[in-house]
Parts: sequence; C-alpha cells; structure tokens
Amino acid sequence: MAAITRRHLTPSATGPALRALAAWTPADAPGGGLHPGDVGWHLRFDDAGVLLWSCDDVPVTVGVLDGTVLHVTTAPGADLATLAADAVDLGADAVAGVSIPGWEPVADQRWVVLSWAPRPVTSRAVPVTAADVADRVLVQRAAFTGSTFTVDRWHTMKQSPAGDLAVDVLVRTPAGEPAAAATGWFAGPGRCGLLEPVGTHDRHRGHGYGRDAVLGACAALTGRGASAVAVVTPADNQAAVALYRSAGFTVVRENLDRVRPDRTVAAPH
Ligand SMILES: CC(C)(COP(=O)(O)OP(=O)(O)OC[C@H]1O[C@@H](n2cnc3c(N)ncnc32)[C@H](O)[C@@H]1OP(=O)(O)O)[C@@H](O)C(=O)NCCC(=O)NCCS
Repeated sequence: MAAITRRHLTPSATGPALRALAAWTPADAPGGGLHPGDVGWHLRFDDAGVLLWSCDDVPVTVGVLDGTVLHVTTAPGADLATLAADAVDLGADAVAGVSIPGWEPVADQRWVVLSWAPRPVTSRAVPVTAADVADRVLVQRAAFTGSTFTVDRWHTMKQSPAGDLAVDVLVRTPAGEPAAAATGWFAGPGRCGLLEPVGTHDRHRGHGYGRDAVLGACAALTGRGASAVAVVTPADNQAAVALYRSAGFTVVRENLDRVRPDRTVAAPH
C-alpha cells in the first residue's frame, strides 16, 4: 500500500488543499470539519498553516490545527488510523470533523450545522467594495470580543489562494453606519457554500441587520451557483441559532469534537 505523506502548506501553497476540500464538499452541507471557506477565513493570517495528507500525490485529508484542536476533512474512505497517529504527533488533544475510532466525543463541545436551500430573498446587504473594507473590519471587531481582524488581514485573506471564493457583504443603518457583515465562501457550482463569519455590531443588534447580512451572502453564493449554504455555530450560541433559523436555515446535524483517549476532559458542573 502506498505511504501517506503529510505536508505543511504555507498560505501561498494552499491551492491543492482548497481544491481537494471543494471536490469533497457535498451539495447540501459540508462533510467534515473543514470547508474551503474555513481555510479561506484562516488565511487572513499571513503565518497561517494548513496540513495536507496525500497518498501517491492524491490528497486524502486536509487539516488546520487551532490550538490543540485539529479540524479536518477527509476524502471518502481515508485511513483514520494514520490520521489518529499524526494527530497525536502534532500535539492535538481533540479532533473536529471526523469520528476517529477510540477518540471520545466531548458532550459540552457541540456544534450545530445548519443549511439553507436557495430561495428568493430581499436584503439590504451590499457587496464590500474597497471603500467599505474599514467598515467591514469595524463590524467584525464590534461583533466578536477579542477579534484581531484588521484591514491588512482582510487584504491578506482576499489575496490568498482562497480570495476569489469569498463573497463579503455589509449592511448599513439608514444613517449609513456599518451594522452587520457576513463572509460567504463558494466551493464550486453544485456544492454547498459556507458562511464564516457573521456578525452584527454590538450597538445595532436586534434590528434584522444580521439576517440581512446572512441572506445577502446566501443570495451572492447561490447567484454564483452554490446548491445550498451552510453555517456551523456552537450549540450554545442562542442568538446565532435564532438568527439562522429566522433566515430559513434548518439544522442538518450536530458535530462533537472528539478527544484523544489518553486525555481526560472535566465534566461540566
Ligand atoms: C448572532 C448575531 C449576528 C445576531 O445579529 P442581529 O443583527 O442582532 O440579529 P437580527 O436582528 O437579524 O435577528 C434575527 C433573528 O434572530 C433573533 N435573535 C437575535 N439575537 C437574539 C438573541 N440574543 N436571543 C434570541 N434570539 C435572537 C431575532 O429575534 C430574530 O428572530 P425573528 O426573525 O424570529 O424575530 C449577533 O448577536 C452577533 O453578532 N453575535 C456575536 C457574533 C456571533 O455569535 N456570530 C455568529 C457566529 S456563527
């Protein structure tokens, strides 16, 4: 049997990983723990690393190590034993996106996968132009506590090999203030797109701006040929789950991170 090799890709060399993830993306919802859009959003960092496993030069798994959690998507029928050994070698305590035999699901790290089927929409969202980038970044920083997004990182993301997959939309208040934003990611015609991230400025919540951003990004993705649009959010993010349901998304499944057998996770009290 041919050996499986693991490579660390620098941002400019992530094309093969993005193409593999796109080819493995089903029509209705993302398959594993990584969609091309997860990698695209990760590529805002100019030191972003992406892992690619290949067998005879054919990609079989793509991964991103986020702290000690390895997010992966595999080709159908991939060798999970090799992946488990490599995850340990990489120092991962948990894996998101595949069920590695013997690795235990962590009940309090639940992710909801929701999907949206194309339909006509009305939305106040507009595509982010060069003149809007600073406002789009401002929304991100006001929506997510601790966000490190910057105008430079927006450009790094857009100039990366994933940049052409991104559709970025912004919603403004009637007075023109930036209120909500969403980045959608295209995985090719007939494949499911992804929203990552979605946020509303903390001063402008509860006015439907988040829903408009979501629907604007969905319309842009289906306009390019996406067969559906998915989003993945922590199960305990009630505002996000309510927003996506309000925009017409339905729950497809829940994903649980899986922790390696020699690691214990404290039970919640
Ligand atoms: C989630 C978030 C984007 C919602 O934005 P928003 O602009 O306030 O949402 P909207 O006003 O468009 O509301 C859309 C729907 O969600 C519901 N909703 C919004 N916030 C809610 C909350 N905190 N609790 C319950 N429902 C909520 C609204 O009632 C509305 O439902 P309805 O159409 O049935 O009335 C915003 O809270 C946010 O930016 N949170 C931090 C970032 C985040 O968690 N992003 C999502 C990560 S995947």
